[in-house]
Amino acid sequence: MHLTITRPDDWHLHLRDGAAMADVVGATAAVFARAIVMPNLQPPVTSVGQAIGYRKRILAALPPESAFEPLMTLYLTDLTPLDEVRRARDAGVVGFKLYPAGATTNSDAGVTDFDRVAPTIEAMERCGLVLLVHGEVTDPTVDIFDREKVFIDRVLDPLLARHQGLRVVFEHVTTRDAVDFVRASPPRIGATITPQHLLLNRNDLLVGGIRPHNYCLPVLKREGHRQALVTAATGGDPRFFLGTDSAPHGRSTKETSCGCAGCFSAHAALAFYAEVFEAAGELERLEAFASFHGADFYGLARNQDQVTLVKDPQVVPSSYGFGDDEVVPLRAGEEIKWRVERVD
Ligand code: NCD
Ligand code: ZN
Repeated sequence: MHLTITRPDDWHLHLRDGAAMADVVGATAAVFARAIVMPNLQPPVTSVGQAIGYRKRILAALPPESAFEPLMTLYLTDLTPLDEVRRARDAGVVGFKLYPAGATTNSDAGVTDFDRVAPTIEAMERCGLVLLVHGEVTDPTVDIFDREKVFIDRVLDPLLARHQGLRVVFEHVTTRDAVDFVRASPPRIGATITPQHLLLNRNDLLVGGIRPHNYCLPVLKREGHRQALVTAATGGDPRFFLGTDSAPHGRSTKETSCGCAGCFSAHAALAFYAEVFEAAGELERLEAFASFHGADFYGLARNQDQVTLVKDPQVVPSSYGFGDDEVVPLRAGEEIKWRVERVD
């Protein structure tokens, strides 16, 4: 069985840097035409100059024939200069990433004071830049499973009310609450959905032993939330689109007493989504979710070339090279049903 669709883009991707980046970027570039690259390096990508340098390093790590286009973002901090917004727009940066300080991997430099960044966000609104939001509160008294829902009420809703023209992507939504919120929002609000949140629930993290390679943020939720995400992704609503949040970490930093958050899914990203859409009986809607909705939201042209998937079960390797470490991919050692046969 074959499925040919317009070539997709990944609207939320972590590539890291250096030798580790060079080891993972090819998996994305082989399938996706473009990807929005997250700025949470150490130190974070906070200036246009840093983003340009990072983009050059990504391009240099690609095979010479690759036409993969990394779309760059800047990391919003309390101290982002107002002028950086205009410079970002002029340099082709697509948006700013908002991490509440401390919410996730390398987010210590994130926003602590929303009043302080309001003028910067207003400038983004005027320049037409998108705000990409990691939607979890960091309040230590809020249970980790409730942090996304509480973020909607405490931060996102007031932010959207304050900035009526701002385009926002609610990244990696994980709950029915987030799905309902996006559905009830105007079209200037979009949302990405990851393969792991469509395929797994919190039992896959915690039952029968703790599985560090299924640990990501926002953390996997209960089954009812997973089902709401599947309905959102496969339902044809243009506000929901593909963003893998593929976030590789070396094995040694995952299999340890305090392991990092992030799942590496780039090795089989499109295959994972195909599996979800097939199980929902909505394979014909995969193309719009993977290849149209995100491009339309960001105001970019849809891709012209095509990818062909074939149903041909394969066993996922137990690890891939990752700089001087290795990365354990999503579903390592188990079967995936689909694979990309060709791009043309
Ligand atoms: C991401 C990472 O490792 O950079 N981790 C994750 O669990 N998703 C950061 C993020 O997107 O939250
Ligand atoms: Zn991410």
